[in-house]
Amino acid sequence: MEGQRESIHGQWSSRLAFILAATGSAVGLGNIWKFPYIAGENGGGAFVLVYLVCIAVIGIPIMMAEVMIGRRGRQSPINTMRTLAAEEQAGRAWVMLGWAGVLAGFLILSYYSVIAGWALAYVFRTGSGLFTGLTADGVQSIFTSMVSDPERLLAWHTIFITMTMVVVARGVSGGIEKAVKFLMPALFVLLFVLVGYAWNSGSFQQGLEFLFQPDFNKLSANGVLIAMGHAFFTLSLGMGAIMVYGSYLPATTSIAKVSIAVSLMDTLVALLAGMAIFPIVFANGLEPGAGPGLIFQTLPIAFGHMDYGAFFGMLFFVLLVFAAWSSAISLIEPAVAWLVENKGLTRVTAAVVAGLVTWLFGLMTVFSFNLWSEFKPLSGFEVFRDSTVFDLLDYLTANIMLPLGGLLIAVFASWKMSRASSLDELGMGDRFFYPLWRFLVRYITPIAVILVFLYALRDIEAIQYILNAIGIT
Ligand code: PHE
Repeated sequence: MEGQRESIHGQWSSRLAFILAATGSAVGLGNIWKFPYIAGENGGGAFVLVYLVCIAVIGIPIMMAEVMIGRRGRQSPINTMRTLAAEEQAGRAWVMLGWAGVLAGFLILSYYSVIAGWALAYVFRTGSGLFTGLTADGVQSIFTSMVSDPERLLAWHTIFITMTMVVVARGVSGGIEKAVKFLMPALFVLLFVLVGYAWNSGSFQQGLEFLFQPDFNKLSANGVLIAMGHAFFTLSLGMGAIMVYGSYLPATTSIAKVSIAVSLMDTLVALLAGMAIFPIVFANGLEPGAGPGLIFQTLPIAFGHMDYGAFFGMLFFVLLVFAAWSSAISLIEPAVAWLVENKGLTRVTAAVVAGLVTWLFGLMTVFSFNLWSEFKPLSGFEVFRDSTVFDLLDYLTANIMLPLGGLLIAVFASWKMSRASSLDELGMGDRFFYPLWRFLVRYITPIAVILVFLYALRDIEAIQYILNAIGIT
């Protein structure tokens, strides 16, 4: 490859290191906390199927595009887009893609950190044996009392943001690489233990049917958008996290192979989490659509009843915190890399600045579960009738900003970058796979994203009204 740039922030020590870091970014609260609760809210099987199709057809090709752009630019997403747009003679406006990603990262991390704080709190709650022998009601009331206390949520949020910034301040390769190496396999093992428990004592069959038997009558148009948005969210796509990690990737690594490996691992973790949680939901007569508290209201029941439950429970939440930690780092890395490149800050100062901003944004989510729990800013729209500020933040980022970012990444990689550049960077020969990838990102992914956007508009009343008026429904 010619004209290789070098990153001023360093490079991953190996291909494995990148896979681990990217998996660390992808696997997180999205898989274990969010996937089960949104699958539950959107009726299960059909939702899961759409999500899996989106991973395969949209997620993997866009991940390759994003890693490729990152490695070619070798800078923060903002500067990478600036450099590549100039090099490929695309318009200057492409730099906005980098900016939008930085904004999305701040917004996502602001609520991500609050939820990670819950997981942190649960390390101590499970570890102390608080759940031993409790029924579903008892477990639920512990959750409710936690989230209704803003001070407590704020304290955990503050701790988690601090943890994140400490690692970010120390730089990419050292800390992140080492931690992920053994934590990810441990998380895997523990999920298997939980699935085993669900197999023995939950309504396993019913749980599997809920997850894997598609019933399209249960899936709304908005549900399809949520499934697609989640494919982006769970793979960390569309906001520059994977791009910035790609910028630290050694030049010789096959982008296709690593992207597929990361996507498969991520999907497996989500499905395992679902298989652990839904049997417990049904065995205890709980609601699959219980919302963001779902895992905190189900898994502790299992831990409260299994042998060594306090130990396993504590271990599980410790691993969940680590999974969230390695994702959080990647959410803020694009912003920090930019502050270092353009503002001449040290990594430490950049991390402090970014941390403070995120912490402030996080207050919106902290209050959404207590002081503002009745505040539903868009309740005029049927789809957002019950949405708190936190729900709306999540909707805006995961279902709108990330797919839009991903769409633009696909367009840039396949319409703006020359064939020669992408062929050179992907390095997978000119035969079958390269043309397939190019076809997918040129046509299929952009069209799919746009169609899902348009389809979801059916669920927005104002639009329905207009469609009715002009006679199309
Ligand atoms: N993929 C992470 C998760 O599933 C969240 C994330 C989104 C991280 C976007 C980085 C960028 O938890």
